[in-house]
Amino acid sequence: MAVSQHKKPLTFNKLGVTFTRTTALSQQSFHFQRQSILDGGLENMDEKVTLKVENISLSFGGVKALDEVSLDVNGVEILAVIGPNGAGKTCLINSISGFYRPQTGSIYFNGHQVNKLSPHKIAEIGIARTFQNIELYTGLSTLDNLMAARHFHINYGTLAAAVYFGKSHREEIKHRKICEEIIDFLEMESLRKKTVGSLPYGQRKRVELGRALALEPKLLLLDEPMAGMNVEEKEDMARFIIDIFEEKKIPIILVEHDMGVVMDIADRITVLDFGIKIADGTPDDIKANPMVIKAYLGEEFTAASAA
Ligand SMILES: Nc1ncnc2c1ncn2[C@@H]1O[C@H](COP(=O)(O)OP(=O)(O)OP(=O)(O)O)[C@@H](O)[C@H]1O
Ligand SMILES: [Mg+2]
Repeated sequence: MAVSQHKKPLTFNKLGVTFTRTTALSQQSFHFQRQSILDGGLENMDEKVTLKVENISLSFGGVKALDEVSLDVNGVEILAVIGPNGAGKTCLINSISGFYRPQTGSIYFNGHQVNKLSPHKIAEIGIARTFQNIELYTGLSTLDNLMAARHFHINYGTLAAAVYFGKSHREEIKHRKICEEIIDFLEMESLRKKTVGSLPYGQRKRVELGRALALEPKLLLLDEPMAGMNVEEKEDMARFIIDIFEEKKIPIILVEHDMGVVMDIADRITVLDFGIKIADGTPDDIKANPMVIKAYLGEEFTAASAA
């Protein structure tokens, strides 16, 4: 894979030890230098994105997957959602993106109630997501997967589409250009013509991120974008997430188990446990929170962080 010209410099520290690397860097996690929202570098946004999740509860039979969960995203920030397996993280992402309907509570996106809308409609108004288990058209190429996502934006007249000239042709060129830009942004030139089903897991995760970006989202929901990746793939994915945030100024809700990455790139963290929100705060607050240490982080993580 070509070396990125725009990759952020990496420095290494001794925070959470989560990677098994066979190089001299083993036993170390990576540390990303991120532009803080407080640096003032991101203030030129056109529109302040707001998401308000208010007291949502979701049950499956006797299982309470989400219990009166509330959270906010205000403007440009990376909000991480963490918690043990089965805590309700994916249910939260599924509820915001319309795949699940919470039985009680409300979700507002830029002031509009969205918790009764279809997933298609929610994607159309600007909330795009990736899936914990990758969801792509495996028989299509990378480029065609991205083009398929663009159908939300395609506006062909029937006659023009039938004869394929004029407006439809211009639209096609425009959509293709947007997809090519995303392929360039995510450094997927070598993958553009390859059938997605033939790609290794880490690259498919990247295509899925590209597919979400092809929707030109105002808010991005990422459900474990680094799960199952090797260290290099994780580093690339973390850089892309930071680039999306800093260059495209898209707020992100990130579900991730890798605490080294979460602590380095999140502005705020919400912690779920058995469907209940048990904490919400900055990475430093969360690292020091006794309930979070007990439920999820464990004493070793905080000891390693302090070292
Ligand atoms: N479609 C479903 N039908 C029944 N139960 C479900 C369904 N989806 C989720 N659950 C249950 O809801 C609870 C929360 O699941 P969820 O997938 O949100 O956990 P998670 O925090 O994403 O876990 P992981 O870290 O393993 O991905 C679990 O007990 C799960 O079994
Ligand atoms: Mg999950």
